Amino acid sequence: MKKISLTGIKPTGILHIGNYFGAIRPALELAGEYEARYFIADYHALNTVKDPKELSSLIRQVAAGWLAAGLDPEKTIFYRQSSIPETFELSTQLMAFTSKGLMNRAHAYKAAVQANTGRGEDPDTGINMGLFTYPVLMAADIILFDSDVVPVGKDQAQHVEMAQDIAQAVNFNYKQEVLKVPQAVVQDDVAVVPGLDGRKMSKSYGNTIPLFAPEKELRKLIMRIVTNSQGVEEPKDPETSQIYLLYRLFALPEEQEALAARYRAGGMGWGEAKEELFRVVNRELSPMRERFRGIMEEPGELDRILARGAEKARPIAARTVSRFRKAAGID
Ligand code: TRP
Repeated sequence: MKKISLTGIKPTGILHIGNYFGAIRPALELAGEYEARYFIADYHALNTVKDPKELSSLIRQVAAGWLAAGLDPEKTIFYRQSSIPETFELSTQLMAFTSKGLMNRAHAYKAAVQANTGRGEDPDTGINMGLFTYPVLMAADIILFDSDVVPVGKDQAQHVEMAQDIAQAVNFNYKQEVLKVPQAVVQDDVAVVPGLDGRKMSKSYGNTIPLFAPEKELRKLIMRIVTNSQGVEEPKDPETSQIYLLYRLFALPEEQEALAARYRAGGMGWGEAKEELFRVVNRELSPMRERFRGIMEEPGELDRILARGAEKARPIAARTVSRFRKAAGID
């Protein structure tokens, strides 16, 4: 029996190439090794995305994006969190075993409080209960599907540890293994993708290159990458150039070497380096962009894929919730 790997994808922004190398590709690689359960965490997104049109569009675009990037819905259980009502029942069940102090220690919540006090505002400004109880909902997502491992970035490792704590508190109380205790698999060797301004590519910095940008826009964005003022003739150091670091993610080893040599030799300006970068990025992203467009043009088919995923997921979820109810005396 393969071990179960589960991860949630929060649809709070359109996918960019930082997501691709940092989250999508590593998660898809794990899908071969594990029995994978991947879902769109739409109720997590609701904490921050309050515009209905925007949320609805993000849910579809992100789901379509993962499919276009290679998620196989036949081999993976792929569903929307909101299609699994058991998530919210388990979440309530877990609330009774989650101390408020544990939530007070959550990094995301603490950062929000600190930002408020730093600005001299009330510590609770703009903080909803969805943000405060975020780790409980996430624990429910994880525990519901008997997950063995949860592949996450460093920023989410604490949430998985909280899910462990909560599951253990339940098992300890009922003196039996009601819930499976998950393990975090922290992906800390994934590439840091530089953004247009040289900082890490991130939606919050506004320096991203969307994964499915039309060719023209992609080219324009690449031409906007910030460079230093070195002239055409000057030799350049590839290792400190964002253009080269991005190029390396997309180019073949021999292409990487060839471009590095041209950098060092001098005689190549930044404009030309950007053209080279555009060529390899577009080569890799074009087929994905086409698949994405195809999926977005058939919303009925996307709905069917997600509905089939939910159908496969719900019986598993129902078993966990009923195990809890029995153990708790709510049967
Ligand atoms: N909190 C995760 C993020 O912000 C998304 C998420 C929700 C998740 N539920 C999950 C990740 C369960 C792993 C497991 O990226």
